[in-house]
Amino acid sequence: MNIQNVASEQTAIGIAHSKLILIGEHAVVHGQPAIAIPFPLVGVESVVEYVPGSVKLDSSFYHGPIDSVPENLNGIANCIKETLDYLGLPSRDLLIRINSSIPHGKGLGSSASVAVSIVRSLFSYAEEEYTNDTLLKLADVAETYAHGSPSGIDTLTITSETPVWYEKEKPIDFIELSEDFHFVVADSGRIGDTRLAVESVANLLRTAPRRFQRKLDRIGELTHQAKHALEKAGKHFLGQMLNEAQKELEALGVSDAGLNKLIYFARQEGALGAKLTGGGNGGCIIALARNEVHSRQLAEKLRKVGAHAVWPFVLKKDH
Ligand code: MEV
Repeated sequence: MNIQNVASEQTAIGIAHSKLILIGEHAVVHGQPAIAIPFPLVGVESVVEYVPGSVKLDSSFYHGPIDSVPENLNGIANCIKETLDYLGLPSRDLLIRINSSIPHGKGLGSSASVAVSIVRSLFSYAEEEYTNDTLLKLADVAETYAHGSPSGIDTLTITSETPVWYEKEKPIDFIELSEDFHFVVADSGRIGDTRLAVESVANLLRTAPRRFQRKLDRIGELTHQAKHALEKAGKHFLGQMLNEAQKELEALGVSDAGLNKLIYFARQEGALGAKLTGGGNGGCIIALARNEVHSRQLAEKLRKVGAHAVWPFVLKKDH
């Protein structure tokens, strides 16, 4: 999917791809770094058109005026209102149709992609240019509702074309790969609630701060090592870092039986490393394969063992 907006007279389109967190999820909420990668195999398209009446949403998750959305869509509704306000457009006479191929609640940044595609489509409708900062700020209105206290990594990666090194409130950095890395993403089938998972980690930190802070710090160290692996040390070392990070995520209580089953199976089948990706407690795993052929074989095996969907993909050196 190309990230470009196409405006016609009274219809405009905004597109956004999805994202994956390679390593550092949860710790990133508490100030540690994380590495995230754009995931273009799935995405969202938002189409805005002039339809007299109130501003309405038409999607698989809701159909109706944005003023009467259910609570879980307040973020999207506010994101739309703030964007219209920013653009000086009245809050009426619009239908926003959302088509998404991103499974929701699977750690693939579905909520952030919806928000980014909507903001892009509204700018396109108004025939206005946006800066990346404005796009992030407006899309993050929706994320604040979806995640409670989001790190901002999802929206940022969705608007990026390259792997990102992300630390809250620090300038973003990009990672140059020393080789191609072949992965498989597999969907456990269960929906995870990122907001709940983020809250549960915050609760652990409140009850036993030293013990759980050590785990987040350890994920931070592993993330630094993973960067070194991507830039220099290579896939075997990266695999070890992913496995180590999974240990810490399990200790933080965000990996459930369905994820663990796929993760251990992937390792048994030769994955160099495997862990959950995103918020956890449902959602997807990411496994590092040995090469392209292995990534396809592994994907097929993961599907046979119960993964609801599988995506073998490559992170290319020159990307
Ligand atoms: C969700 O994709 C990643 C988390 O770290 C939450 C966040 O960073 O906002 C779990």
